[in-house]
Amino acid sequence: MAKGKSTVFFCQNCGYESAKWMGQCPGCREWNTFVEEAVPKTVTKTTGRSRAGGEPVCLASIDLKEEERLTTHMEELDRVLGGGIVPGSLILVGGDPGIGKSTLLLQVCQQLAGDGRKVLYISGEESLRQIKLRAARIGSFADSLRLLCETNLSAIEETIRREQPQAVIIDSIQTMYGEEISSAPGSVSQVRESTHVLMQLAKGLNITIFIVGHVTKEGTVAGPRVLEHMVDTVLYFEGDRHASYRILRSVKNRFGSTNEIGVFEMKGNGLSQVPNPSEYMLSGKPEGASGSIVACSLEGTRPILIEIQALVCRSNLAMPRRTAAGTDYNRVNLLLAVLEKRLNLPLSGCDAYVNIAGGIRIQEPALDLGIVLALISSYQDKVISDRTLVFGEVGLSGEVRAVSQAAQRVQEARKLGFDTVILPAVSMEQAADISGVRLLGVRTVKDAVQLL
Ligand code: TYD
Ligand code: MG
Repeated sequence: MAKGKSTVFFCQNCGYESAKWMGQCPGCREWNTFVEEAVPKTVTKTTGRSRAGGEPVCLASIDLKEEERLTTHMEELDRVLGGGIVPGSLILVGGDPGIGKSTLLLQVCQQLAGDGRKVLYISGEESLRQIKLRAARIGSFADSLRLLCETNLSAIEETIRREQPQAVIIDSIQTMYGEEISSAPGSVSQVRESTHVLMQLAKGLNITIFIVGHVTKEGTVAGPRVLEHMVDTVLYFEGDRHASYRILRSVKNRFGSTNEIGVFEMKGNGLSQVPNPSEYMLSGKPEGASGSIVACSLEGTRPILIEIQALVCRSNLAMPRRTAAGTDYNRVNLLLAVLEKRLNLPLSGCDAYVNIAGGIRIQEPALDLGIVLALISSYQDKVISDRTLVFGEVGLSGEVRAVSQAAQRVQEARKLGFDTVILPAVSMEQAADISGVRLLGVRTVKDAVQLL
């Protein structure tokens, strides 16, 4: 950076920092995302962070009792958090506008306040009246919940230090601003500075802070990905905004496993938990339709049954159209290529659409066999029985490979009344002692297709 220069350019998408303006960001390859911002003064201020500067201690002498978690009385949320809220943690909740972030956090407030804990809800987006209206739909609140409409960071810091609550909600980080930074709220340096201050508060006073973050259309928290590195836990809300269910997924968790999901339903009185998501995901499944099949994915510790839909039809375009909703587009193309090569099907002349029903996004390779069979079912117009479940990874030579936790998946299938499971032959052994379901082991995609 030139000497004495007081501005730098930040990519508003990923937080990449540059001394000069650039058309394309070298970090995330987005175009036109660089915005000039004043150099954050905190770059030099951060030395103040090592205030503790204590003695090193040995591992055995650390008392784990302090880690006792607070429960939100919402099992789905507690599980996603890794067993409850860890005091002193910084939790980021991201999601599309209107998906229910504020609602969920207000419900967390309700539960914590109900337990007699001091909670502070700071909103930079809504007036007290608006919060009251939302709260009226959710139910009654104990008096230990306090509300504040504020966007000034130093005022917020002062309030938190004075009130000493056990939990704080910041709704949302994009509206907060520090006075000493000249750029607009929501810009990279503002978001970074705000998060930094909040992190110090959380760690220093041992309070839990929930931060709401807006999401761009690409699906990452608006502004910097830097934010995700700074916080302890990142939770994302997924789901179709037009449907009533919402999936809360943990993508980073310093205090628990990741990829754990919680399923909620938006009702007239806030979000309510869905304890049996498989039943829920399959509720709209068409009967006797080709191109539809039930597969099993393991989300964190829990198997979830989902419906895969495929539509394959002759294409009139030079370049056939392919789409994948809810799963990896490249993976679908790869599976189509495997089918074309190993089964000699002329799929390159066909349009193919794949959809995971229910608005859930799943990347697990165990879905491969389900996608393949759904494609074949649609292509050959053959109906697959409603009571058949499939899972298995497909390799490039058309082989069906083992997946983890086969027994757990078969158990879930049995619980929901499935009578047949198509699975990798190598995983058969694991599930052999489960009675009441017929297991069909397959070694290659060809074997599986012959079963239809
Ligand atoms: P909200 O929590 O404001 O979303 P976010 O903070 O993520 O932007 O959720 C708003 C939506 O939820 C809105 O469309 C209304 C709906 N809603 C219900 O259906 N039932 C309810 O009880 C509440 C509080 C909201
Ligand atoms: Mg909101």
